[in-house]
Amino acid sequence: MINIYTNEEINKVKEAGKINKLAHEYLASLIKPGISTKYLDDEAGKFIESHGGIPASKGYEGYPCNICISINDEIVHGIAKEDVFLKEGDIITFDIMTKLDGYIADSATTWPVGKVNKEKEHLMYHTKKALYTGLKEVKAGVPLGNISARIQQYAEKHGLSVPHEIGGHGVGKDVHEDPFIPNYGKYGEGVILKSGMILAIEPMLVVGDRHVDVLDDDWTIVTHDGSNSAHFEHTIAVRDDGYEILTGE
Ligand code: MF3
Ligand code: CO
Repeated sequence: MINIYTNEEINKVKEAGKINKLAHEYLASLIKPGISTKYLDDEAGKFIESHGGIPASKGYEGYPCNICISINDEIVHGIAKEDVFLKEGDIITFDIMTKLDGYIADSATTWPVGKVNKEKEHLMYHTKKALYTGLKEVKAGVPLGNISARIQQYAEKHGLSVPHEIGGHGVGKDVHEDPFIPNYGKYGEGVILKSGMILAIEPMLVVGDRHVDVLDDDWTIVTHDGSNSAHFEHTIAVRDDGYEILTGE
């Protein structure tokens, strides 16, 4: 079942989303070679809580961290560690869920650590563009598949691949709600979007082929071929004439 939210509820997600946006900026300001991912996760938890929110990923189906931190070939759901340190040339993704007053916002950004190579620049630039390109499809009355197809088309045009096993989702009261939103698909297919749906749209694109593995920690999803991955995500509300971003521009 896909929830339809009132404007009042949408505003609550937007309040949570403001904390997300600030948390991304704060964490990005801490990035430098030598710091551990655990340090960043601890800082994320403190930041969210000091703004009145709850890190909603923590404890979700047993997930152990405040936010998801994924480096290089890790696509999503990476786990922060005391003995994993950022290196010059890495790319790092923060995937943050903040719960505030019972409502959850979800957003992800990928950042360079110092200077990164051209391949990583290309990947980050076009993954972010894929998100905004997909969002152009969003408005009430449009089939969900149009968003998926648009993201896939954009990714492939720029030589990037789309893993099939992971994608976006509804969000609001729960971390993951219906519908699942693949980053590949066909125009004209899928449920019809309605005003008041809240969706997390999140292209996770990879440089190599689309196949993924799950690490022994049962969480971290990595590319099978070891190629790099980037991830950009916003939570949005579907409107009659388009969409409203709830996690900051
Ligand atoms: N933001 C992540 C997603 O959309 C979910 C984080 S909770 C986790 O998949 F437990 F799954 F990590
Ligand atoms: Co998400």
